Amino acid sequence: MRADQPDNVHDTSQIAHVPIERKAPLLTGQNFWQTEPLDELGIRSIWLADGPYGLRYQSGKQDNLAVFASDPATCFPPGVAVGSSWDAELAAKLGAALGREAASMGVDIVLGPGVNIKRSPLCGRNFEYYAEDPHVSGVLGAAFTRSLQAEGPGVSVKHFAANNQETNRQTISSEVDERTLREIYLPAFERVVTEAEPATVMSSYNKINGVSAWANRWLLTELLRDEWGFRGAVISDWSSVTDRVAALEAGLDLEMPSEDASVQAIVDAVRDGRLDEEIVDSSVARLASLATRPVGNSTAVDADAHHALARELAADCAVLLRNEHNVLPIPGGVDVAVIGAFAKAPRYQGGGSAHVNATRVDIPLEEIEDLAATTGNSIAFAPGYTLDGIPNESLVSDAVDVARRSDIAIVFAGLTEERESEGFDRDSLDLPADQVAVIRSVAAVAHRTVVVLANGGIVSLEGWHDEVDAILEGFVLGQGGGRAIANIVFGIVNPSGRLAETIPLRLEDHPSWMNFPGEQGQVRYGEGVLVGYRYFATAGAPVRYPFGHGLSYTTFTTGALDVVVTGVDSVSVRVPVTNVGSRAGKHVVQVYVATSAGPIRRPARELRGFTKILLQPGESETVEIELPRRAFAYWDTTIGEWVVAPGDYRIEVCADASTVVQHSTITFEGDRLAGELTLEAPVGTWFDHPEVGHRTLQVLGFDKVEIPEEQLIMVRSMTMRQFVRISGLDIADDALEDLMRVTRLA
Ligand code: BGC
Repeated sequence: MRADQPDNVHDTSQIAHVPIERKAPLLTGQNFWQTEPLDELGIRSIWLADGPYGLRYQSGKQDNLAVFASDPATCFPPGVAVGSSWDAELAAKLGAALGREAASMGVDIVLGPGVNIKRSPLCGRNFEYYAEDPHVSGVLGAAFTRSLQAEGPGVSVKHFAANNQETNRQTISSEVDERTLREIYLPAFERVVTEAEPATVMSSYNKINGVSAWANRWLLTELLRDEWGFRGAVISDWSSVTDRVAALEAGLDLEMPSEDASVQAIVDAVRDGRLDEEIVDSSVARLASLATRPVGNSTAVDADAHHALARELAADCAVLLRNEHNVLPIPGGVDVAVIGAFAKAPRYQGGGSAHVNATRVDIPLEEIEDLAATTGNSIAFAPGYTLDGIPNESLVSDAVDVARRSDIAIVFAGLTEERESEGFDRDSLDLPADQVAVIRSVAAVAHRTVVVLANGGIVSLEGWHDEVDAILEGFVLGQGGGRAIANIVFGIVNPSGRLAETIPLRLEDHPSWMNFPGEQGQVRYGEGVLVGYRYFATAGAPVRYPFGHGLSYTTFTTGALDVVVTGVDSVSVRVPVTNVGSRAGKHVVQVYVATSAGPIRRPARELRGFTKILLQPGESETVEIELPRRAFAYWDTTIGEWVVAPGDYRIEVCADASTVVQHSTITFEGDRLAGELTLEAPVGTWFDHPEVGHRTLQVLGFDKVEIPEEQLIMVRSMTMRQFVRISGLDIADDALEDLMRVTRLA
């Protein structure tokens, strides 16, 4: 069977007999969330609903900006939190729970996960996405997809592809070179598609190198179906399609939401002979296949159990950035000041289509008070600032008074949904000035100061970082975040999150800064593959906290690694880890590959494997991480393939993207990089050619005379034709021709 042939119960011959007027409506929505049924073929209508961390199922009025209420559902930790967990099992638990909720509501397709790369920290939708790294995004997205779909409903992995900003998201063209697309922006989708078989893929709003994603045949058919073997349906992002026939021909099966003009356009195009009816039939067959997924069940979800799960997952997502003097966890019996409006009105999720009507929300202050009652801590509260950002001197002085009387002050700070959401990007990383003023005023008087942050995208820590003792980055943790934070602060849970994105010292240091959010309709991905930590580690540029950073209340040691070759260009890495501290805790083992092999510039290191383990005090475990061939490969644009270059590869176990803990080097024979030589190829390419390089030197007589290095460098960049013409060397006419023949035949 060809990859673009639907694999389902409705063969297209049945569909071919249905008049075009009756089947064309299936290819656009029936309304905002449902597809059209086709009773004569027994194809039912299916229901699609957001989203990636909680259901936005609107049984009443419908929209996609979350203006109208949706039915109550559990708000699990959003993508940013799951990304920071570095835990595929956690993503799987979340996916399964979402799958259960979707099935109980009769939702057939959940619109998530979002696996776009966080190219810039300013992207308004970073709260929905996992990481600045494709390996983290792909592994978590695949785990989420597999377990959600095991409950019956399907997913829609989104937004395919290179949708990394909100500014002009419907018109912008992401200008990305081929290697960067292959190595950075596509692998997370590729992994989800090839390893987890998502029911659907959602095309994005933007253009890629000038062609709209929803009308991009290379993307939706040649890459997704023919190369990756995708057999599900491609659906559009909401209201993106402006030419239904072009979209269909490119491989887009379902346009959402409803659009009468599109149905007519398909009918007219088939009637006029402009559109092959078989294309319509294939797409109808894919929708028919979606409709064969199990119909939702009416088993009520245990809301309490899901709330407890939301709390449990959230606690493994928060990242302890700083913990001077081991100020955290807070010991029993001390006086604690809780400061900040967010402690009473928490920011726990994002704005836009992903917004969930949470079944209930933990209030951090209440959860802290609840635990303090058992630990013998006293709690005093002061709001410190207002959430509308209007400065209020008396709130600051009240907060300072409360802080002065305490042993430890915890300041809750962050960004409101008005400051970051789907639909727009931020223009700065700063926290609101009035919140920074409160942090600094409190830190100036408090014995110890802890800051707990709530934000969907990272915020700058500059201007106050050194004045506080501890920083717990909670991001947005979902409805159970309040209890999760209380559990971490009092040491009931050991913090185990790791940054899935770099926190720079300045926005201007970030590799995306020069080219974000673009101009005149285009955004140039000028940093190429050097996205996020790949740039900082390569340039050796200082950051506030690197990708992968996260502290713990206990201490883990990592022993020497053992690298075992498991196949051609693939290895298994074994790493012993021991919890030498006095508390149980989870630890993330991060494995990177560093190499300069090959004819292309490579990032200093790239994350290629990770796993999270739980160790009791004194316990050891040897973790095994597979590094397949792809972990060592680069995308070669001259031949359009993944290539493992011959050379040395350093396998590094790191604490974060700039701290190597253990390493070991292996050498691969790799792929033969021998291309066909012509007289127009640079002399350097002739010299380096694995088959005829040495004989080229002989033909030119360079093996007998000593040529000064600086002259050789000049020569390397000349074409062989030019060199032969100007060198004055006496080269036998057919000598080079013979060498070229060898490379042609090789
Ligand atoms: C968003 C999608 C979402 C859809 C439906 C769009 O605006 O980009 O992520 O799934 O709306 O709400």
